[in-house]
Amino acid sequence: MSNYFDEELIEEIKERNHIIDVVSRYVPLKKSGSTYKGLCPFHHEKTPSFVVSEEKQFYHCFGCGQSGDAIHFVMQMEHIDFIDAIHMLGDWAGISIEEYTTSDREKEEIHIKNQLYEINREAALFYYKNLFQTRNDGLKYFYERGLNSQTIKKFGLGYAKDQWELLNRYLLTKGYDQNLIYKAGLVIKRKTKDGYYDRFRNRVIFPIINVAGKVIGFGGRIIDKGEPKYLNSPETPVFNKGNHLYGLNLSKDVIRKKKQIVVVEGYMDVIGLYEGGIYNVVASLGTALTKSQGYLLKRYADEVIIAYDGDTAGKAATLRGLDVLKDVGCSIKVIELADGVDPDEYVRKKGKDAFLEKIKKALPLVDYKIKLAHNENDLTTTEGKIKFVQSITYILKTLKSPIELDAYIQKIALAAHISPEAIKSEIYGNNKGNYQKDSASYKNKYRSKNDRYTNKYDIKPIKPIQKMGYIEAEKSLLKLMMDDKRLFDKIKAIMTCEDFIDEIHIKIAKVMDDLYETNEFISIEMILEKLKQEEIPILHDIYKKVVPIENVNKAFIDYMDVIKKHKLITRKIEIENELKRIEKMEDKTPNEIVRIRELCIDYEKLLKELKKQ
Ligand code: GTP
Ligand code: MN
Repeated sequence: MSNYFDEELIEEIKERNHIIDVVSRYVPLKKSGSTYKGLCPFHHEKTPSFVVSEEKQFYHCFGCGQSGDAIHFVMQMEHIDFIDAIHMLGDWAGISIEEYTTSDREKEEIHIKNQLYEINREAALFYYKNLFQTRNDGLKYFYERGLNSQTIKKFGLGYAKDQWELLNRYLLTKGYDQNLIYKAGLVIKRKTKDGYYDRFRNRVIFPIINVAGKVIGFGGRIIDKGEPKYLNSPETPVFNKGNHLYGLNLSKDVIRKKKQIVVVEGYMDVIGLYEGGIYNVVASLGTALTKSQGYLLKRYADEVIIAYDGDTAGKAATLRGLDVLKDVGCSIKVIELADGVDPDEYVRKKGKDAFLEKIKKALPLVDYKIKLAHNENDLTTTEGKIKFVQSITYILKTLKSPIELDAYIQKIALAAHISPEAIKSEIYGNNKGNYQKDSASYKNKYRSKNDRYTNKYDIKPIKPIQKMGYIEAEKSLLKLMMDDKRLFDKIKAIMTCEDFIDEIHIKIAKVMDDLYETNEFISIEMILEKLKQEEIPILHDIYKKVVPIENVNKAFIDYMDVIKKHKLITRKIEIENELKRIEKMEDKTPNEIVRIRELCIDYEKLLKELKKQ
């Protein structure tokens, strides 16, 4: 990746995309001293702890620890990779990326992609204009389905007329290469003779737009009855169905705020909900959800609400598809709609509030599956009960949390009038050992890197200060010094900045010393401004330290002791090594013998000191 782009380009990108401007596109910032502050976009907070340094050109959140430069910020916000972020920032700053890329093959690849984006954009515009040029079936169709012209514009909807080569000819006259028009998936090669014809004819058109705002493909719906109802662009260098979600370009900001995303099946569902006033919605482009879409969802939202047709939602294939989401760690709920009713119709008939109510009442995936199993079996018969419990067993086996599992077992036991023990042995067989193993591995699973709740499981009992490592003790001391000038002065009376063991701690102590020269109070941002980006995580750790406030004096003496003890032990090891070294020598000079004696005296003193500790 590093040699994908010229260093020069990356520098240029950073220079022309001022971090304050880039961040301000997403987060309102307020100047506060020499830095800017705002509410962190990466976690929920009420008071701002998200700091952007103009001078250093980076951001850091003292709430959640996210930090980086402008490129990194865009990557995080848009959930795109480095390459796409460079493109986006390049666009914003009017820098031509192509000029900078190194290898010819990459240049060519990027060139082709850019041209495909351009062709797609032209095609989308062409289809859109068709809607409004003359009276046509497309516009009539949309109006009949209740769409207003604002929605049509917002989604860039269009119409492909009922002719064979309109788009192809149009794009050729615009100067685009036939081969590229073909590559974009807009035309199909004729089988019997030379030439190409338009893929989409007499269809209303739904352009598919990625989060960076580029048109990557199209869906076309037939107007009259006929097969296939929907036709989609084929996979192209810029369109991979499984990696995108329809509508995310419009809904991403709302989703990011709400942390909740409604997933529907169809283009029209997204549009219908949008028109109904529900904006946090995307569609999965007609296929079962892929893992990659799962990750995409997970990065934007904590909670995924599935709103499919009543009849598709219950299908085994759909349910298996939802397990993909569970695997990536999303919390999933399912909305129940009647068979054959899709969200589009529902919101049109019942309105926004009714749909919001549906969201509120959405069932967690497991409950939903249990409910389906319940509906499928007659629990008044023994056979029905057995079948019910057996099918539930499969569902419950996927549960990772023993507590959750237990809760469900209780619930089912009540519903089916079967003892919890029987259900348990159905789940685990008679092998209790398995259960233990499972619950242990559950813990590890929850500790996966992707889990944003990891911290919850990392809470450690607070250790007595004396057992603390010196690094932690130093951090706690620095925290005390940062919070209160009187304590800073007190500590400075006992030790100097250089008495800290860790290099960066020394630097931070010195920075504070400087700041206290002219300020009665210092803030975390003031310190941040004086550090290098790679030093910020240390500052973050210090900021996060919780030090006992009831007995500050005792605490700081304890911290000092920890540091002192560490120094004594380090010195002890040094002396031991030195003694070993000299003792190994064959012919010792008188000087060395004196040295040994000195070291031994020091050593004795040290041991005494250590004993006192
Ligand atoms: P309307 O019938 O116009 O309300 O469409 P819808 O958006 O409600 O679509 P539907 O629920 O019938 O299908 C859901 C999604 O599946 C569509 O938006 C398409 O993406 C996809 N889809 C439906 N039918 C076809 C088809 O015949 N071929 C392909 N490739 N995809 C389809
Ligand atoms: Mn529909």
